[in-house]
Amino acid sequence: MADHIESVLTEKRSFPPSDEFASRAHIRSRAEYDALVSRARENPEAHWEAIARELHWFKPWSQALDWSNPPFAKWFTGATTNLSYNCLDRHLTTHRKNKAALIWEGEPGDIRILTYQMLYQEVCKFGNVLKKLGVERGDRVALYMPLVPELAIAMLACARIGAVHTIVFGGFSAEALRDRINDAKAKLVVTADGGWRRGQVVPLKANVDAAIENTPTITGVVVYRRCGNSIVMKAGRDHDWGEMMAAVDARCPAEELDSEHPLFILYTSGTTGKPKGVLHTTGGYMTGAYITTKWVFDLREEDTYWCTADIGWVTGHSYVVYGPLANGAASVMYEGAPNHPDPGRFWQIIERHGVNIFYTAPTAIRAFIKWGEQWPAKSDLKSLRLLGTVGEPINPEAWMWYREVIGGGRCPIVDTWWQTETGAIMITPIPGAVPTKPGTATLPFPGIDAEVVDKQGKPVPPNSGGYLVVRKPWPSMMRTIFGDDERYKRQYWSEFPGCYFTGDGARRDSDGYFWIMGRVDDVINVAGHRLGTMEIESALVSHPAVAEAAVIGKPDDLKGESVFAFVTLKQGQEGTPALRDELKAWVVKEIGAIARPDDIRFADLLPKTRSGKIMRRLLREIASGKATGDTTTLEDRSVLEKLRAQEEEE
Ligand code: PRX
Repeated sequence: MADHIESVLTEKRSFPPSDEFASRAHIRSRAEYDALVSRARENPEAHWEAIARELHWFKPWSQALDWSNPPFAKWFTGATTNLSYNCLDRHLTTHRKNKAALIWEGEPGDIRILTYQMLYQEVCKFGNVLKKLGVERGDRVALYMPLVPELAIAMLACARIGAVHTIVFGGFSAEALRDRINDAKAKLVVTADGGWRRGQVVPLKANVDAAIENTPTITGVVVYRRCGNSIVMKAGRDHDWGEMMAAVDARCPAEELDSEHPLFILYTSGTTGKPKGVLHTTGGYMTGAYITTKWVFDLREEDTYWCTADIGWVTGHSYVVYGPLANGAASVMYEGAPNHPDPGRFWQIIERHGVNIFYTAPTAIRAFIKWGEQWPAKSDLKSLRLLGTVGEPINPEAWMWYREVIGGGRCPIVDTWWQTETGAIMITPIPGAVPTKPGTATLPFPGIDAEVVDKQGKPVPPNSGGYLVVRKPWPSMMRTIFGDDERYKRQYWSEFPGCYFTGDGARRDSDGYFWIMGRVDDVINVAGHRLGTMEIESALVSHPAVAEAAVIGKPDDLKGESVFAFVTLKQGQEGTPALRDELKAWVVKEIGAIARPDDIRFADLLPKTRSGKIMRRLLREIASGKATGDTTTLEDRSVLEKLRAQEEEE
């Protein structure tokens, strides 16, 4: 880690909530918010218990938090509950029974609406399908699907019977899918023939076929027919979703699960080549996803809520499915690309369904800006009352554009900071109470003890950069890395003893607001998706021509960061343009299109310290064409000269 983090942004604009918004909000003023925060600070457990009581538990807890064996937390110990029950059954005895739970649009324009009652029926049936295929409590089920209601149905069905889902984003390759299935030791895969993306079919089933050639634990595949593309069904192994659903009963009681029963594993990138299986459990995750959805989005019964994330990422888990449904909300899901058939698609969806709350990523906002204001101008966006962003820092100008052009100057923006590991939003404005400023996620959610510290773990003074940590456990925190407790300890709890280390750098301004400065480790953020540079390096090095690779993030106007690879070749190999293309395609095959290097530069040697560590800072400076700083620890200076010279040639 660097000794010192420099922070350069200064931003003076501030936007207090309007009286109109605040007067109808869940939390209506700064005073109310401050009182809540201080109560939560005095007794965090009582705070989380009060929230948890808004949900259904079959059996109450005997202890709110068991922190006797840190960093392994147990929340609501002794209690039993079921998240599927809380998302469905709980609403069926109320006016929500026939309310829209999911409002779904397919990319080709087809629309399906499932009420809570309808969704409940489908989830029960699919729960029985899973059982029929031998899935039992605790078994892992991999979901590799397009953004169709059946993905949410499959998740809720797993949660209902106590199976653990592990969703693999449909953009990942067969190889990436195989690695995740093997790490999770999944029993079953649920997939679709294909999914629509910009008018093309993504061949999901074909990828599954390739992936499970080497997955010893898989006993079956369920295939939902989405695109009608031709697929091979292997008798005895592959099962048709529709046929299975027609043959089962619609009664499937929600299992009474221990609060700490595993709910899902979601793989995310870290600083090694191997993705980490972040494990979340039932009761605490449910509590966090529920209350953050309610307070951060200021959700009201009549709202139409749309989070544009793919369910393959944590944002989709918490804010397309579990958080909104636990609140009885109407959640919009859109299958395809934002610019299909034209760049007005999102705005048409907002108008068509009267969306009130819209939650998206800065990378999408930058694309909207590039496509131009004429697209949102064609649609009526007056239904919107709240906007949100997540996934990476948003630059103040993009924030202002979002506010003015999409929000008509009247909608608060919630810039929400959190991670796969945190399960739920951690730093965010509460929209009726906390004035926002462009570019900052503002303040910790009530009950979250976040701080910015120096290398020794001491809080830094206002406006100095440091490391973002969380000092107390919270209900929706990850419980471990699946199958690797040691790595969990080492990765998150060893840098700052007693604190969870996020891997992000940040500063707090004189109002105490948190300004996230990005990752301090070897993780890059491409279009809001976390990629470990090591993962891409491992993929490159697995190519027969490559000797060594170093991957860094290069600042990119649209994607936040682009993938820039420095590659040294084996003896006798030549760095031709054809090889460059081949290596790009190789990474796509190994990981998926999101990891495709935008630039590859061939080098004879990589700049290393005397201890042999690749000097990524230097590579970053070379990639962005900046003057290079301190090179005193560099082993071989001529390497640098050669890399720079190549830059001029190109
Ligand atoms: O670096 C932070 C950035 O995204 C990382 C978490 O990535 P992931 O686990 O994929 O989850 C993304 C969606 C929750 C963080 O460590 N990040 C996320 N939200 C923000 C952010 N950076 C700045 N501002 C945010 N609002």
